[in-house]
Amino acid sequence: VAEVPKPLIVKEEEAEEDDGKKKVTIFFGTQTGTAEGFAKDDYAADDDDYERKLKKESLAFFFLATYGDGEPTDNAARFYKWFVEGKDRGEWLQNLQYGVFGLGNRQYEHFNKVGKEIDQLLDEQGAKRLVPVGLGDDDQCIEDDFSAWKELVWPELDRLLRDEDDVTVSTPYTAAIPEYRVVFHDSADVAQQDKSWANANGHAIFDAQHPCRSNVAVRRELHTPASDRSCTHLEFDISGTGLKYETGDHVGVYCENLLETVEEAERLLGLKPDTYFSIHTDKEDGTPIGGGSLPPPFPPCSVRVALARYADLLGSPKKSALLALAAHASDPSEAERLRYLASPAGKDEYAQWVVASQRSLLEVMAGFPSAKPPLGVFFAAVAPRLQPRYYSISSSPRVAPTRIHVTCALVHEKMPTGRIHKGVCSTWMKNAIPQEESPNCSWAPIFVRQSNFKLPADPTVPIIMIGPGTGLAPFRGFLQERSALKEDGVELGKAILFFGCRNRKMDYIYEEELQSFVESGVLSELIVAFSREGPTKEYVQHKMMEKASDVWNVISQGGYIYVCGDAKGMARDVHRTLHTILQAQGSMDSSQAESMVKNLQTTGRYLRDVW
Ligand code: 2AM
Repeated sequence: VAEVPKPLIVKEEEAEEDDGKKKVTIFFGTQTGTAEGFAKDDYAADDDDYERKLKKESLAFFFLATYGDGEPTDNAARFYKWFVEGKDRGEWLQNLQYGVFGLGNRQYEHFNKVGKEIDQLLDEQGAKRLVPVGLGDDDQCIEDDFSAWKELVWPELDRLLRDEDDVTVSTPYTAAIPEYRVVFHDSADVAQQDKSWANANGHAIFDAQHPCRSNVAVRRELHTPASDRSCTHLEFDISGTGLKYETGDHVGVYCENLLETVEEAERLLGLKPDTYFSIHTDKEDGTPIGGGSLPPPFPPCSVRVALARYADLLGSPKKSALLALAAHASDPSEAERLRYLASPAGKDEYAQWVVASQRSLLEVMAGFPSAKPPLGVFFAAVAPRLQPRYYSISSSPRVAPTRIHVTCALVHEKMPTGRIHKGVCSTWMKNAIPQEESPNCSWAPIFVRQSNFKLPADPTVPIIMIGPGTGLAPFRGFLQERSALKEDGVELGKAILFFGCRNRKMDYIYEEELQSFVESGVLSELIVAFSREGPTKEYVQHKMMEKASDVWNVISQGGYIYVCGDAKGMARDVHRTLHTILQAQGSMDSSQAESMVKNLQTTGRYLRDVW
C-alpha cells in the first residue's frame, strides 16, 4: 500500500501550504504498518480539527483497516467515532473528491466494515466518489486487490489532473520511468563494503530494515522418504547477536533466489555476473532522483549477488514493469506489445496472460528478448525488491535461547504455463547448508516480528491447540515452554493438541517429540487426524467433533483455543466446527453461539495464527 508514487503524497504539514498545485491527501488507519499511521498519533488535536481539515480537502484517499469485530484500528478510532456519530451533518463535503481502500479479511464476519461505512458516509455527506471502495482481502492477496483498485484510480487521476491542466503531477501512464544512478566498482572495494554490512550485528534493534545475519545451525528433512513432499526443520543460530524472541513470535527471513533463477535473469538481461555496482537515489550533484520515490539502495555488490538477494524474479510483473521493459526493448514490435499489455485497452489480456497464468517476471522477459533494461532501471522499475518471508517460530527461548527454529513446507507447484514454481524461501531452506555440515554454512538476514499468539499468562489455564501440517510450528514452541515451566516445578493446566497430516508413515512431523511431551505430561492429550490413511478423509475438525465435550469443558473452564495453519480451508472449517460444538454442547441457538465465539475472540481466548 505504501508504494503509491511519492509525488502524489502530500504530508500533513505540507498540505497546509498553497502553491496552487493540485494536492492529494492520504489518510491511513493502520495497526501493523500495512498502511502507515493515520498521521502520527491520532490525526487531530480535537474533533474540531477533523472538521476543519476535511473541509479544506479537495482530493483525498482513505486507507482503512478493519479489525476483529468490525472495529477500526486504534489510531483511526477517534476519527471513525466522530465521523459516524456526525451522520447528520448534511452535505457539507461537496468540495471533496475521494477514494477509499479498505484492508480486511474475508474470514471475518464484518469484512471491511470500516472502509465500506466511511465510503458510504462520505458519499452521503456530499463528497464525490472517484472509484468504488476497494475491498482488500488479506485472506487472499491484499496486494493484488490494491493493484486492481489502483488501476481504477490512475485513469481517474489522469483525467482529473489533465482537466486541471497540471503537468507537474504524473501518473504511470505519463510518468518518466524511474531509474537509479549506477556506479560501477572494482571487486575489491565492494568485498570490503559487503563485509562491513555483515558486521552490522551490533545493532540494538533488529527489524525488517535492520535484519540480523544468522547462520543456519541445523537443517533436517521432517518427512520420510515415502512422502512425495518435503518439510524442512531449520535452526538459525542467534547466539551472540542480541536478537531476542518470545514463544509464538514470527521470524522474517530474507532468502536468496536459486542459482538457476539468477543465471536465467543474467542471461535475459545480458549482464555479466561479476560486474560490481552500486545504485544511488541522487544525481551526481546530490539532487534526489524521482522525487525521493525510489526504495533505499542496497549495498554495493555484484550483479550475481544483487539478483540473488534483492530482485523478486518469480512474481508476476506489474504494468509499470512492462512499461519499463517497453522503454528498453530494441524491437519496436515488442515494445508496442508490452505497452499494449500495460494500457487500459490491454487490461483483459494482462489479466489473462500475466496474472491468471501466474507468469513470472522472467517468463515475461523471455517472451520479449529484445527488452534489456539497464541495472538502474531494472532495480527501480522492473523487479520489485525480494521481500522477507514470515514463519511462525517453532521453538521456545526457554528451551532454545540461542536458536530460532522454523518448520517450513516446500512450495513446489505446477503453474498454468507449465512452469514449476519453486517457492523462493522454502527452496532456499531445503537446500541450506548447516553449520554442523560445513564451516562455510548458509546464513540469512533475519528479524523477529512480535505476535499476540501467546500462552495464557496463568499456566494452569487449560488450552486447546489446533494445528495440522506446519500449523504445528508455534505449538511445538508452546510445548517446549510448558516443559520448561514444568521442570521449574510450575503446575500446568490441561493441554490438548489436534494435529493432522496425510499419513503417519510420511508426514507425521515431530512425532517422537510429541509422544515424549505426552509421556512427560506436558501435553495432556494428542489427537491426530490422518487424512490419507483410510477410505475417507479425517481432518482435525472431525476429531474436534468427536471430542466435542472436552472442547466444551476447556472453554467453560475459561480455557484458550489456538488455531494455526491454512486460513482458507482448515481455519475456516475449524471456525465453523467450533461454532457447531458450542451450539450443541451449550444448548445455544446459532446467534448465541456466534456471540460466544465473538466474545472468545475479543477477550483473546480464541487466537489464530493463519496464513
Ligand atoms: P489432505 O492434504 O489430505 O487434504 C496438513 O496439510 C493436513 O491438513 C493434511 O492432512 C491435509 O489433508 C489437511 N487438510 C487439508 N484441507 C483441510 C481442511 N479444510 N481442514 C482441515 N484439514 C485439512
